[in-house]
Amino acid sequence: MKIAVGCDHGGLNLKNEIIKHLNSKNIEIKDFGTYTSESCDYPDIAKVVGEKVIEKEFDFGILVCGTGIGVSIAANKIPGIRAALCHDTFSAHATREHNNANILTLGERVVGTGLALDIVDTFLNSTFQGERHQRRIDKIADIEKKYNK
Ligand code: RB5
Repeated sequence: MKIAVGCDHGGLNLKNEIIKHLNSKNIEIKDFGTYTSESCDYPDIAKVVGEKVIEKEFDFGILVCGTGIGVSIAANKIPGIRAALCHDTFSAHATREHNNANILTLGERVVGTGLALDIVDTFLNSTFQGERHQRRIDKIADIEKKYNK
C-alpha cells in the first residue's frame, strides 16, 4: 500500500506524527509537504496529493490542515477524489466501506495525536463494500461530469 501525505502549516506536527506511525508499520509513504511551519496555502498541497491519488501513483492520500476542512474542500474539487474529513473511528471505517473514500483529511487543531493515529489505522484497514454503495458513487461521478464541462 502506498500513501501520499501532505499538510499546510496548521497540520505539520500531526502529519509528522502520522509519517512516523506509518513508517513504523513499514507502510510506503511519500510526503508532499509542506515541510516547515511557515505559512502556506492548503489548496496547493491538496491539489498535489489529490492528483497523485487520481493518477493511481498512490492508493490513498492523507491530508492535514488546522481543521481538516480546507484540504477536504480543495481535494474534493478533483473529479474522482472522495476526500473524507474524519474525527472519529466510526466515520473512518464507514467512509471507506460506503463512500470508497480515497483521501482521509484530519484537523490538527481538532483531534489529539492518539485518536488521529487510530483514525488513520481504521481508514487504511477498512474495505469498500460495493453493491448499493457503488451505485451511489456512480451518481457522484454523474454530478462531477455535469459540472466539469
Ligand atoms: C490555516 O491557518 C488554516 O486556515 C488551515 O490550516 C485550515 O484549517 C483551513 O481549513
